[in-house]
Amino acid sequence: MSRSFLFVPADSERKLEKTESIDADALILDLEDAVTPAARPAARQLAASYLQGKHNIWVRINPIDTDDALPDLEAVMPSAPAGIVLPKPRSAADAVILAKHLDGFEEQHGIEPGSTRIMALCTEHPAALFSLDGYIGATSRLYGLSWGAEDLAAAVGASSNRDENGNWLPQYELARSLCLFAAAAAEVAAVDTVFTDFRDLDGLLRYARKARRDGFNGMLAIHPAQVDVINAAFEPTAEEIEYAERIIRLFDENPGSGTVGLDGKMVDRPHLIQAQRLLQAYRK
Ligand code: COA
Ligand code: MG
Repeated sequence: MSRSFLFVPADSERKLEKTESIDADALILDLEDAVTPAARPAARQLAASYLQGKHNIWVRINPIDTDDALPDLEAVMPSAPAGIVLPKPRSAADAVILAKHLDGFEEQHGIEPGSTRIMALCTEHPAALFSLDGYIGATSRLYGLSWGAEDLAAAVGASSNRDENGNWLPQYELARSLCLFAAAAAEVAAVDTVFTDFRDLDGLLRYARKARRDGFNGMLAIHPAQVDVINAAFEPTAEEIEYAERIIRLFDENPGSGTVGLDGKMVDRPHLIQAQRLLQAYRK
């Protein structure tokens, strides 16, 4: 599973070149909001040639209900991207529409059927918040769900989505939580949204650590400096690994008990599952 996904505007040759020296687990070449409509045709060609022979490169296309979505796919699919990031889906049905297009492109270009993954930005459309369970079993291409607060704030006419301290307002925390639970229900990755203040790396580290604590598997990045911080934040700490190993040892030593005491606290099955998941992710 990827910890860091770095957005790179696909119209910027300079930024595309820069990626050679960046340690992101995955890149997302953006054809949507980071690119103006006028620059889009050239950006499609740049993205297509950049993709050739590379791994773990995703492409964010335009929303599936716009006239740009198909030309985006037509341009990049011959180069077999790892996956497509789908912005502003109205519901999981939009991911299913995308999956059907991918079926056709894979066949046309001799790409292994089903190998192109999908990541849906599942909260960008207000209506989408009311049917997030639709992602359960929607398509086996679904890699994960991520979320965004900018389009949502614009959609409701809000002047901000953050409080005076820069924290998400409760309504956007709600969207974030819904994304997290929808991803867990659909058994796919949960990827936290961008941290836009790209000079504040201490703030990013705190945010990303919280994201992992909350159960997110990775995070979106917009600037090269964010990548190492995110990668580090999504690695478990030495203390966490040690604590997880102690929990597993304790259950091994007490095979008949569903619940045991550790450092004066009750530990039961959910804790065992958490410990197993942490060690599994760590050992990958
Ligand atoms: N990918 C690759 N390289 C990047 C990059 C990115 N996302 N963001 C910045 N760089 C490069 C810059 O080109 C610069 O290199 P250079 O000096 O050799 O040209 C270097 O990293 C440092 O960049 P910096 O000057 O600190 O930032 P900036 O002002 O040039 O760019 C942003 C700031 C936000 C415009 C830029 O980071 C960006 O385009 N991010 C992605 C935006 C995006 O895709 N948004 C859509 C999803 S929300
Ligand atoms: Mg957006």
